[in-house]
Amino acid sequence: MIYIGADHAGYNLKEQIKEWLTSQDLKFEDIGAEELNPTDDYPDFAKAVADKVTKNPEAKGILACGTAEGMCIAANKEKGIRAIIGYDEFVTRASREHNNANVICFGGRSQDPEEVKKLLKIWFETQYSGEERHDRRLAKIEDLE
Ligand code: RB5
Repeated sequence: MIYIGADHAGYNLKEQIKEWLTSQDLKFEDIGAEELNPTDDYPDFAKAVADKVTKNPEAKGILACGTAEGMCIAANKEKGIRAIIGYDEFVTRASREHNNANVICFGGRSQDPEEVKKLLKIWFETQYSGEERHDRRLAKIEDLE
C-alpha cells in the first residue's frame, strides 16, 4: 500500500500524483490534506503518513510540501522511517538500492510534476539491493534511533 500526504504547498502536486498512481494501477490511500488550506502544517501530514508506513514493512509513503525539505525532516523523526527527497534520477534510484527508502518527498513549489512522475516510476520499480554493506549501514541507522 502507498500512503500519500501533502500540506497546502504540496496539495496540487499530490492531486497530480494521485492521478498518475491511478493510471499506473497503484493502490494508494490519501491521508490529506483534503483541501487547500493555507493554515495547515506539514508535520501533521508527515506524521500521519509515517505512522501508516511504519506499521507495514511493505508500505511506502509519498509526501509533498513546498520544497520537500520540511516533510523530509519531519518524517525522518519517526523510528523506522527512511525518507528522502527525490530530486533527480540517480538519487531516487540509489535511495531504494542503498537506503531502502520507504518515504519519498517532493516539492510542489520546486519541482515539475512531470519530472516527479518520472522519478516515482523509478522509485517504485527499484528494489533494495540487500547487499551486506547496505544492511550493515542501515543497522547503524537503527542504532541511532
Ligand atoms: C509552507 O509555506 C512551506 O513552508 C512548506 O510547505 C514546506 O516547503 C516546508 O518545508
